[in-house]
Amino acid sequence: MHMSTLHIKTYGCQMNKHDSDRIASMLSTSLGLKLVHTAEEADIILFNTCSIREKAANKIFSDLGRIKPLTLKKKNLIIGVGGCVAVQAAETIFKRVPYVNLVFGPQSLYRLPTLLMQAQHKRIIDIDYTPIEKLENLPLPSDYQPSADVSIIEGCHHFCTYCIVPYVRGRAVSRSFSSILNEVNVLAKNGTKEIHLLGQNVNCYLDARQHNIRRLSDLLYRIADIPGVERIRMTTSHPAYFSTDLIQAYRDLPKIVNHVHLPVQSGSNTVLKKMNRKYTKEDYLRLTDALKTIRPNISISSDFIVGFPFETDADFEDTLNLVRQIRFDRSSFSFMYNPRPQTKAAKFGDPVPLWVKKERIKILQKLLLKYERAISQSMLHTIQRILITGTAKKSPHQVSGRTENNRIVNIDGSSSLIGKMLNVRVIQVMSNSLQGKVIE
Ligand code: SAH
Ligand code: SF4
Ligand code: F3S
Repeated sequence: MHMSTLHIKTYGCQMNKHDSDRIASMLSTSLGLKLVHTAEEADIILFNTCSIREKAANKIFSDLGRIKPLTLKKKNLIIGVGGCVAVQAAETIFKRVPYVNLVFGPQSLYRLPTLLMQAQHKRIIDIDYTPIEKLENLPLPSDYQPSADVSIIEGCHHFCTYCIVPYVRGRAVSRSFSSILNEVNVLAKNGTKEIHLLGQNVNCYLDARQHNIRRLSDLLYRIADIPGVERIRMTTSHPAYFSTDLIQAYRDLPKIVNHVHLPVQSGSNTVLKKMNRKYTKEDYLRLTDALKTIRPNISISSDFIVGFPFETDADFEDTLNLVRQIRFDRSSFSFMYNPRPQTKAAKFGDPVPLWVKKERIKILQKLLLKYERAISQSMLHTIQRILITGTAKKSPHQVSGRTENNRIVNIDGSSSLIGKMLNVRVIQVMSNSLQGKVIE
């Protein structure tokens, strides 16, 4: 059978998006598949799913329902379901949706060329995971990107009581120091200026191969030394593992952006303990104070969960007070608690009523927006260094880039500017972006 086109739909986190990019480039190299934008044009449709909340996990079933007519029209169409729901519910997917040909886990991506060939003849489930194989076996990026994601650690073993990630993504495994540096070198040679290090907890990175201990800070010093690399971003950092050497790296290396995504989840010590987050509100404040001492303007963003089992009004008030103290920045996310299968917290039930969760999230998001807007306003007339990554969404005569603290800045200019780092003056502040003017 002839397979020539591929469509991928991605849900969930940056790790998943990165996985989808890797799938596309790997299948283009190995099977010559061309990525297409709609499911209708495709010979192969892959869904890269997310299981973090029930709503996200259920999307896959409605989306599979939506493409059913295509499977009737195109007899040889291959449908694959990958990602975190694939691990959590492989059998269910197979049973409920007879036209799914292949279920693959986040760690079996690199076997996809073979799996897809086999899936033409029989239905296949491959959700085994040996994360190390994936990290060391994925092909190097071949196309040029101004800003590129680089995965450094896969999975997680912290077992926050609400979280399904350790069950679907596997325990944390760090990629080898040399293979990361090799990838960054290749990217930098291709012209990439910004390196975005990815992992569920990047600061738990640890390579102890060959009797050498290398931590995230070691990696940062080495990456900052690679010619061509101008900026380093990271997502996500865990507050309990933000060690002194990492704080020192933030002090020593101006290439690390002035932003840290440091999810606190809650400002109540009782809730943090029940969540098994392994830090207190005081620890968090000490850490952010230390970061603010070496970088007074550092932008800090966070994830929050409201309505965790038995969260009282007073607990929630603690979260709001912490927000007032820290003044979190843009790129903060808040979620209503949602019990997930297998997790410890699922045993507590879901005692906080939905209307209470809804009220709390509304109050929290309003407060977060207030600080985000105040920080944006304070950037008016300042000079910001931005990396131009593409044409502006709303105007063909503009290109856009990002500030270190994740603001989109649009400036007049053509696509020839893509990939350039420019100093711009912020001339207008809008709700979701800034207007800038290049300064010489
Ligand atoms: N590894 C990161 C977070 C990964 S998941 C960390 O530890 O910070 C992304 C976010 O989803 C979490 O920070 C949390 O806020 C949210 N989340 C995870 N499980 C959830 C659940 N069961 N209900 C609601 N939100 C959840
Ligand atoms: Fe989930 Fe906690 Fe691991 Fe983050 S640290 S992925 S919230 S278990
Ligand atoms: Fe979702 Fe899996 Fe990422 S559950 S958030 S896609 S690690």
